[in-house]
Amino acid sequence: MIDEGKLNIFIGQMLGDLGGASSVAMVRLGGSLGLYETLHAKGPMTCAQLAKAAKVHERYLREWLSHQAASNYLAYDAKTDTFSLPPEQAMVFVNQESPVYMMGGFDLMTALLDNQPKVQAAFKSGQGVAWGDQTGCMFCAVARFFRPGYQNFLVQQWLPALDGVVEKLERGAKVADVGCGHGWSTVLMAKAFPKSTFIGYDFHPSSIEDARAHAKEHGVSANTRFEVGLAKDYPGKDFDLVTCFDCLHDMGDPAGASGHIRQSLKPDGSWMIVEPMAGDTLEQNLNPVGRLYYAGSTMICLPTSLAQEVGAGLGAQAGEKRLRETIMSGGFRSVRRATETPFNMILEARP
Ligand SMILES: C[S@@+](CC[C@H](N)C(=O)[O-])C[C@H]1O[C@@H](n2cnc3c(N)ncnc32)[C@H](O)[C@@H]1O
Repeated sequence: MIDEGKLNIFIGQMLGDLGGASSVAMVRLGGSLGLYETLHAKGPMTCAQLAKAAKVHERYLREWLSHQAASNYLAYDAKTDTFSLPPEQAMVFVNQESPVYMMGGFDLMTALLDNQPKVQAAFKSGQGVAWGDQTGCMFCAVARFFRPGYQNFLVQQWLPALDGVVEKLERGAKVADVGCGHGWSTVLMAKAFPKSTFIGYDFHPSSIEDARAHAKEHGVSANTRFEVGLAKDYPGKDFDLVTCFDCLHDMGDPAGASGHIRQSLKPDGSWMIVEPMAGDTLEQNLNPVGRLYYAGSTMICLPTSLAQEVGAGLGAQAGEKRLRETIMSGGFRSVRRATETPFNMILEARP
């Protein structure tokens, strides 16, 4: 028996979900064509004014503007026939320094879609899809997605939550950023602590090239270096701090990585592990953050891990308990949750 009330509520949810999915291309158009930036810079405008300022075709623009107004992404004033970008929306679409800048999230949704054929085949074969074989610039999307969190919390809150680490970094410490990807975390730390030296390792050669370019662009080449390396056998010893940002769960052998990180640290060193926020049970993750992470995990993280040796397949919602077991299996004496944000938990492991 169909319950009409329940059906209507669910159809309402589906309308919202499909509307969100339809916004992926629309928001990326607005970003790529500079439409949000132009509105942000110039204030309320008619379609014709914006078309002129942004140098786009007016008929296309009217359709886009109408969608944006219907989505509550832009405000529409019917009396003056003008569109504007409210300041709160500008934090999401324009201000790259804001903690809620989400354009990277829209890029990431495209990457999930692009990956579908490869992941679909993997569902049948049980094999992985290697990080380097995933579609388009998934790497750029991931880097762009995570960067606002690192930019707003890493130096300000996460490093100070670790035991004595900031003092060491200020004096001059040796740091390895393992699984560094495009190196934004490395660059932020290198900028904040010029007396310390930073080596970023990642097994994906083109990400390492991008990381080198970012370090140069941000003027931190003097105290940073990026090398291609696996988490379980990168060279170098006597690190004061090893960091892993949103990557331990992507590794095929996170326990092997833990063992290697343990022996690469000084006896009084620290390992900072930044992982997606998650509870230990599925029930705890049945929420909007868990929903997004399970999708990312299905399409990106799990296939990445299953394509590597061991293929532990922790998934992006592993939860603290499983992460703790993995970390401790590498020989660490203690693990604690140093701090957290709605999207991340920050664990500190000590040898
Ligand atoms: C989700 S991305 C995060 C990248 C970066 N830390 C960030 O936060 O933007 C995961 C990264 O882990 C790297 N990775 C996965 N498995 C690895 C392994 N076994 N050894 C080294 N890097 C690995 C990938 O190449 C990728 O750059």
